[in-house]
Amino acid sequence: MALMAVNTRCLCLFLLCTITGHSLEIKVNPPQDFEILDPGLLGYLYLQWKPPVVMDNFKECKLEYELKYRNVDSDSWKTIITRNLIYKDGFDLNKGIEGKIRTHLSEHCTNGSEVQSPWTEASYGIADEGSLGTKIQDMKCIYYNWQYLVCSWKPGKTVHSDTNYTMFFWYEGLDHALQCADYLQDNEKNVGCKLSNLDSSDYKDFFIRVNGSSKLEPIRSSYMVFQLQNIVKPLPPEFLHISVENSIDIRMKWSTPGGPIPPSCYTYEIVVREDDISWESATDKNDMKLKRRANESEDLCFFVRCKINIYCADDGIWSEWSEEECWEGYTGPDSKIIFIVPVCLFFIFLLLLLCLIVEKEDPEPTLSLHVDLNKEMYAYEETLC
Ligand SMILES: *[C@@H]1O[C@H](CO)[C@@H](O)[C@H](O)[C@H]1NC(C)=O
Ligand SMILES: *[C@@H]1O[C@H](CO)[C@@H](O)[C@H](O)[C@H]1NC(C)=O
Ligand SMILES: *[C@@H]1O[C@H](CO)[C@@H](O)[C@H](O)[C@H]1NC(C)=O
Ligand SMILES: *[C@@H]1O[C@H](CO)[C@@H](O)[C@H](O)[C@H]1NC(C)=O
Repeated sequence: MALMAVNTRCLCLFLLCTITGHSLEIKVNPPQDFEILDPGLLGYLYLQWKPPVVMDNFKECKLEYELKYRNVDSDSWKTIITRNLIYKDGFDLNKGIEGKIRTHLSEHCTNGSEVQSPWTEASYGIADEGSLGTKIQDMKCIYYNWQYLVCSWKPGKTVHSDTNYTMFFWYEGLDHALQCADYLQDNEKNVGCKLSNLDSSDYKDFFIRVNGSSKLEPIRSSYMVFQLQNIVKPLPPEFLHISVENSIDIRMKWSTPGGPIPPSCYTYEIVVREDDISWESATDKNDMKLKRRANESEDLCFFVRCKINIYCADDGIWSEWSEEECWEGYTGPDSKIIFIVPVCLFFIFLLLLLCLIVEKEDPEPTLSLHVDLNKEMYAYEETLC
């Protein structure tokens, strides 16, 4: 029914326009009271507005809003088309934020032509408290093995010695920003924070604010926003194995490190070392086959590192390199000796220990042995006689 009403209205408009010879220009107003609100979630902001004043004959028209916003120094705007009156997104509060919005009249209200209002604008910025020299430096955050987050920083360049920093964080799902409960400290000053058990915090913006206090001056806050899956540093791969087939094909395999990361989320970088030459390869699987480059090489070794691949995250941090694993082909007997010697030593030690225990616990048998011996001696003497 509503649609019918719109259609008749549009038809009337169409007729009106044709009659008056296109003299009627359709106009629409921008939304009202556009503003950017900060609910105190460290960078998660609300952009909200009210519907525009609309001419009576467009009351039935569906309105759409075109919203554009960005951090002030960014080159590109994010664009959203919506029918709602609010939009929420994460921002970097170290910088200002600007937004603009306009109204679109839907096309069947305007005989197919595009009708938009002029833009209306709003901006938001945190009032800068404290000098730039009081802000922390070199903030780094790493999500170790997709299990716990460690952030660290250095104090500002010009802070007074009584300055102590505090870290707050928030992500969608928490009621409000929380303070770090496990600070890393240097000289009793907070220089980092460790967070674990972050429930369902992946694939969403994670917001951090580091502020501080000093009796002598205000401290400038520092903000950070990232997604946890993009700053994962895995453990290095384990259980490396290398072998050579047909004296030319090198086969290498390894295991994914233990932990919550699915095996399909890894990509690997491998370094193969043959005597003095070494070369790199990459793969998404946890094995690899390569051809040897030299026939008579003495050493054939490899090591691996891993990172989260593009199917699971936009970015990641390489793990440390694994231990180097070498082919035992040439060094076979040597390596066996290395293994056998400690085992033998161990057994000898065990035997000695056993003898000692037997001797301590049971002194009588030795005595009786003595007696027996004497008897035997006696017997021996007897026979001699
Ligand atoms: C409506 O559309 C027709 C055909 O596209 C065009 O000739 C006419 O001028 C339009 N009228 C208005 C009011 O835009
Ligand atoms: C800094 O704050 C931490 C707690 O957040 C506290 O343990 C430490 O003693 C403080 N250091 C100084 C110098 O006040
Ligand atoms: C630090 O930030 C938190 C979270 O926004 C806020 O509640 C707290 O008042 C701030 N502290 C100071 C000293 O500014
Ligand atoms: C290794 O030796 C085989 C035969 O023993 C030879 O065919 C091959 O070309 C050699 N490869 C290299 C890289 O020297």
